[in-house]
Amino acid sequence: MPLRARTTATLTQYLIQQRRRFPHASGDFNALILDVAMACKAIAKSVAYGALADLHGNHAADAGGSVNVQGETQKKLDVISNELFIRMNEWGGHLAGMASEEMEDPHPIPEQHPKGKYLLVFDPLDGSSNIDVNVSVGSIFSILRAPEALAEGGPLTEAAFLQPGAQQVAAGYALYGPTTMLVLTVGNGVAGFTLDPVMGEFMLTHPELRVPEDTSEFAINASNSRFWETPVKRYVDECLAGKTGPRGKDFNMRWIASMVAEAHRILMRGGVFMYPRDSKDTNKPGRLRLLYEANPVGFIMEQAGGRASTGRQPMLDVQPTSLHQRIGLVFGSKNEVERIERYHAEPQKFNDHAPLFAERSLFRD
Ligand code: AHG
Ligand code: MN
Ligand code: MN
Repeated sequence: MPLRARTTATLTQYLIQQRRRFPHASGDFNALILDVAMACKAIAKSVAYGALADLHGNHAADAGGSVNVQGETQKKLDVISNELFIRMNEWGGHLAGMASEEMEDPHPIPEQHPKGKYLLVFDPLDGSSNIDVNVSVGSIFSILRAPEALAEGGPLTEAAFLQPGAQQVAAGYALYGPTTMLVLTVGNGVAGFTLDPVMGEFMLTHPELRVPEDTSEFAINASNSRFWETPVKRYVDECLAGKTGPRGKDFNMRWIASMVAEAHRILMRGGVFMYPRDSKDTNKPGRLRLLYEANPVGFIMEQAGGRASTGRQPMLDVQPTSLHQRIGLVFGSKNEVERIERYHAEPQKFNDHAPLFAERSLFRD
């Protein structure tokens, strides 16, 4: 019998029920998800203490100030959250390695712990520029199978993680907002859990999340508009033109600067999110990272009936080339994402420049 909201189903019960689809499963996978959920609960607590974290033994004030592999200043809680993910997940015997936004190289499982058959990739704190202003942040994670050579004891390499998003076994995020939520896919739809702060349990509150196929809400950082490519300019212009434009309806706009929070809004009521490839910095083909931002959110969207894309190809088909690779990302309500893909595929008649010099998609992703 499917689990319904308003029952007392916990995350553990949900996972047990999912496992019944695979009578020979060992239970490793469920144990791994529960360890990830434990890390998220610990991060939720650290985030909730805010400026008081120091008073409660989290030593946030000592941990910050270093610079991560993307050359960005790490917020104190980025460091703490990364450590919590590692500490909660390295001992369990389910993982062959981890990789994180906050670590340049993959993190091997220390000698004293048993190794397992999965890889965990994560952004321990997404939207961390919002911490100081007390706006929602989250954690994002993706679970892959370790290649056989690694599962059999071979050395941990970056190459082990370079798997297309379609190969994810599970993906999810925790959102540290007015309530703490965990949203998860194990490849059989998307379920949302709300943390009961008294019980300390994630309770199943949103059993079958679906993204509405149509929307009139979009999210993009419009301060980058002069760097956008023509198809994105066209899409946003048409939304802004509202009832008087070719779309014939008014659109609403949102920008939180926490992708997790935007993904959650879109799961709840539809919408489209864009952080497209642009020309702002030629060394960065997009702002967001493929392995621990675009792929897990892409898997969740697709499992909820939405869509995720680079604009030119389905996100989950992209063959990664490096651990911290950045990529243009569009996700959300299916019909809008497909429209944006069509605009990328069409001859660029809306280019600002003469059509002869219009950018061609042939040589680009
Ligand atoms: P992170 O905090 O992990 O670096 O990610 C922040 C990301 C994402 O959550 C958000 O959508 C985007 O950066 C915001 O970028 P802008 O500051 O350019 O709006
Ligand atoms: Mn992030
Ligand atoms: Mn981050």
